[in-house]
Amino acid sequence: MPEPAVLVTRALVEEAMTSLSGRCELDLYQGPPDAIPRDELLRRAAGKAGLLTVLTEKVDAELLDAAGPDLTIVANHAVGFDNIDLAECTSRGVLVTNTPDVLTEATADLAWALVLAGTRRVAEGDRLIRTGTPWIWDPRMMLGHDLYGKALGVVGCGRIGRAVARRALGFGMRVIYTDVVRLPADVEREARVEWREWADLLAEADVVSVHTPLTPETRHLFDANAFRHMKPTAVLVNTARGPIVDEQALADALRTGEIFAAGLDVYEREPAVTEALLSLDNVTLLPHLGSATIETRTAMGLLAVENLFAGLAGQRPRCLLNP
Ligand code: DGY
Repeated sequence: MPEPAVLVTRALVEEAMTSLSGRCELDLYQGPPDAIPRDELLRRAAGKAGLLTVLTEKVDAELLDAAGPDLTIVANHAVGFDNIDLAECTSRGVLVTNTPDVLTEATADLAWALVLAGTRRVAEGDRLIRTGTPWIWDPRMMLGHDLYGKALGVVGCGRIGRAVARRALGFGMRVIYTDVVRLPADVEREARVEWREWADLLAEADVVSVHTPLTPETRHLFDANAFRHMKPTAVLVNTARGPIVDEQALADALRTGEIFAAGLDVYEREPAVTEALLSLDNVTLLPHLGSATIETRTAMGLLAVENLFAGLAGQRPRCLLNP
């Protein structure tokens, strides 16, 4: 039997690449720093049995048409799958998988890096030193806000949201959350999280951390109106998907002091960043590093490859998304 033809749209960590080799007819796109151009993606997908994609590749009817009838599985190297038209794949019998769980703790850690950066002005302080700005210890210098005794508001209390909540307890915070579906009472009790309606969470939280998927309902969930409801001392952190936050409205809220600070790992038009944010000291900007640890990216890569080959072998992949 010939080996299945597979397109991998971006090189994975070495261990994951090794686990691919010798098991398929591999077509690897190696053109960073840019994502594979759309026309090249369409051309190279033709005749493939498997696509191993990352979050920048839009998997839609056009790509599925270009791939043709041999396509069995799209294995996404991410927990988020808003880049994939799942309904379209399902209607054509194409399997879709993601890489949940293995990145939960790493992403929660990075959310906390941004919480601390925002509340304690960490990146701003680093910039002050590096730019050689004169300073002397001063009781009024670069004051942030305490976390102890404050409220963390988690928006989307799934795996990552709960891992972020767990860390908050160690900082002496209490946790409130909102989600499309309220958690069962025993889960709330065990996680020590309290349900709030959306507007109440905005008004009460000192730190708001976003962990909801990007859907038509969550696009621009954080808009000018949401910022108006938040405390002037509040910090917003987004490690989920960029378009959940209206970046221009966020820049305005940060500039006018409507909220205190923000930390972003993801962007509305990634990798572009809204110009108005770049000159603000009260926002920390990271290049989508949520899952970027050696351990986690290795686990994600191996899981994506495992899903891919399970699907190609006609088995049910561990992380199947199709209903
Ligand atoms: C994901 O997995 O969805 C992240 O955004 C990338 O690790």
